[in-house]
Amino acid sequence: MNICVIGVGYVGLVAGTCLAESGNDVVCADIDAAKIAMLNANQIPIYEPGLEELIERNAKEGRLRFTTDLDSSIRDAEVIFIAVGTPPARDGSADLSAVFEVAQRIGKNLNGYKVVVDKSTVPTGTGDRVEAIIKAESKSSNFEVVSNPEFMKEGAAVEDFMKPDRVVIGAPSDMAYEIMRRIYEPYVRTENPIIRMDRRSAEMTKYVANSMLAVKISFINEMANICEKVGADIDAVRRGIGFDRRIGFQFLFPGVGYGGSCFPKDVDALVRSASQNGYEPKILAAVQEVNQSQKRIMVDKIREHYGKRLSGLHIAIWGLSFKPKTDDMREAPAIEIVNGLLDLGARVRVYDPVAMEPARKIFGNRVEYGDNPYQTLEQCSGLVIVTEWNEFRRPNYQRIRQLLLEPVIFDGRNIYEPHDMEKLGFTYYSVGRQPVKKG
Ligand SMILES: NC(=O)c1ccc[n+]([C@@H]2O[C@H](COP(=O)([O-])OP(=O)(O)OC[C@H]3O[C@@H](n4cnc5c(N)ncnc54)[C@H](O)[C@@H]3O)[C@@H](O)[C@H]2O)c1
Repeated sequence: MNICVIGVGYVGLVAGTCLAESGNDVVCADIDAAKIAMLNANQIPIYEPGLEELIERNAKEGRLRFTTDLDSSIRDAEVIFIAVGTPPARDGSADLSAVFEVAQRIGKNLNGYKVVVDKSTVPTGTGDRVEAIIKAESKSSNFEVVSNPEFMKEGAAVEDFMKPDRVVIGAPSDMAYEIMRRIYEPYVRTENPIIRMDRRSAEMTKYVANSMLAVKISFINEMANICEKVGADIDAVRRGIGFDRRIGFQFLFPGVGYGGSCFPKDVDALVRSASQNGYEPKILAAVQEVNQSQKRIMVDKIREHYGKRLSGLHIAIWGLSFKPKTDDMREAPAIEIVNGLLDLGARVRVYDPVAMEPARKIFGNRVEYGDNPYQTLEQCSGLVIVTEWNEFRRPNYQRIRQLLLEPVIFDGRNIYEPHDMEKLGFTYYSVGRQPVKKG
């Protein structure tokens, strides 16, 4: 099939590449000329495990192309995926200007029946608006608009696209659904379902999925905070509840709050969309409030530990991306933590295995940048773990002790065991567990 993917970001680049991998002819189009030039020079603008090899192979075999020429890409395609960004507007609602711009472009270039697939995360009813724009521009009804929300996780995006838990398709007709089913068939050979529904429900499904996950995170974070106060251990509690099949273990890990380009903006956008339609969500408002304060808890613990001494001390940070295996720092808790420490007069040294470039754009010369985890610790009076990259899980503890001026670890992801830390002679703070205090 001739497919055009418009918007070559985390979603568009992965989706386009994986669609080429199953034999489609795919052109990925974007208005960002620098990004397209990079891709045409065999450079990958994002970090995503497994993506580079796939791009290289499919580009070499001629199934995957990158261009800034949106018009001819639209004209040549039978199916057009819209995968542009839908960032938060000032009022928290989703900014749909890029989606509508693309819809206009499609309308101008409509030259025969096409399926227009909205893969960007958009509020319920956006498909109707996209349809109206294309119709107005083209003076034709020879197209259909499908909602096909994307559930991939950054860090495992290729795997998620190639083997999705489920595919959701909001199709207005059997013909459009059949085309979509054919596109997705190669990815659901393990019998995972393609779920057909109406377009509005498909749009809503994406927001409900992300909101549910955000609810789980804020819920366990709140329980962790209570555990600390009442002298309980959230890890034990987590195990105690997780075997109940109605509850389960997934996504119930306490930490420093959720970040990334999806949960914060999608929860915000659903709150706005609900309120524009006459309903004020109460659970979602609480989820956002808990998350905001959770991003501050490590800063509060650090401030309490050092007191006034903190001003002028060096503090090391391991992990900056909003989660492991990605370089994405959008809304990352690390931003709040670093800024909080700087505000308190601390000097901050940061290290991340892949997110150093985005970090430089965010922090500039306000922080120092480490070359590797251990060198980052030199002259520092404490270490804060913000992102649970695998390489931080089993470090050389003796070396950490030797390098830190004071053996203090603030573990925002509970990757170490308190009794190990006690034996190793660290003062150790984590989330929802009692602190270990040396001496
Ligand atoms: N990042 C994720 O993990 C993820 C997962 C599921 C869904 N989503 C959703 O998918 C959409 C895209 O997210 P992303 O993270 O890939 O965004 P991104 O910011 O990484 O990429 C968006 C791309 O769209 C391009 N673009 C913007 N306006 C354009 C226009 N008018 N014409 C052509 N290209 C244009 C930008 O240049 C950019 O390359 C969003 O709605 C997001 O909520 C993201």
